[in-house]
Amino acid sequence: MIPEIQAGLERGVLTLTISRADKKNALTNDMYGALADAIENASTDASVRVVLIQADGDSFTAGNDIGEFAAQATGNAPKERHVVRFLHSLANATVPIVAAVQGKAVGVGTTMLLHCDYVVLADDAQLITPFVNLALVPEAASSYLLPLRIGHARAFEMFSLGDPLPADTAVAWGIANRTVPGDQLRAEGRRIAEKIATKPSGSLTAMKRLMREAEKLVAQMDAESSTFVERLRSAEAKEAFAAFVQKRQPDFSRIAKQ
Ligand code: COA
Repeated sequence: MIPEIQAGLERGVLTLTISRADKKNALTNDMYGALADAIENASTDASVRVVLIQADGDSFTAGNDIGEFAAQATGNAPKERHVVRFLHSLANATVPIVAAVQGKAVGVGTTMLLHCDYVVLADDAQLITPFVNLALVPEAASSYLLPLRIGHARAFEMFSLGDPLPADTAVAWGIANRTVPGDQLRAEGRRIAEKIATKPSGSLTAMKRLMREAEKLVAQMDAESSTFVERLRSAEAKEAFAAFVQKRQPDFSRIAKQ
């Protein structure tokens, strides 16, 4: 493990804590790698019955590290993009996954929730999918899963406008199970995870397999990923990343319509 991803196993629950609070838990390639290792191992480790994902600080995660996006845009991609392995590990996971989410859950912070089996939100949680604002496309099979979950109209609105979705709306739309006051989030995530861990794990695994089409999800992720990598290198994306670094609004008006 690395300091930015803490892992602890207790009473059958593997808790993974994203811990890079000073950068709003933005996810780096190494962090994706550590998460992928843990989720892949959880499916074969007999002592892990449930995975619980939580995060330190005031935000669940600000999504992919934008500095790393910008590096990829200029051809400095890491040798192995662990994000791909992380997303595949979510699609192929056979253990139930619970998430406890506070503050902002941006990009993959929201799309990973579509692979979780039980999502508890602090009442200050906001789900944000700014892929189009960054001139990218949705990932993590969310271009398939989000419209399926909440309908095309709402999914298009979330993806294209990138406005924050409040926690109570996320519950009303079926993206999450419930909200709790922020100071109860950790305890509630743990309570649910431990409750699920007492259930017969063979039955849970078989049910999860029946409820999710892992192969279809992986195929969708791979299709998204090739478009995503093309978009990363686009003039529009370069402008979006430069604007983030320079703390200004992007100006796409001078980039010709494609
Ligand atoms: N990648 C890299 N660094 C990030 C980051 C990201 N995705 N999100 C936040 N940070 C860094 C900021 O650069 C800042 O670093 P600094 O203190 O060295 O300047 C620090 O985290 C705090 O962020 P800040 O923007 O000051 O906090 P905020 O509370 O005002 O806003 C967010 C929080 C999440 C709304 C805002 O940081 C944001 O929009 N981040 C980008 C989210 C995004 O588009 N992610 C990609 C999704 S595909």
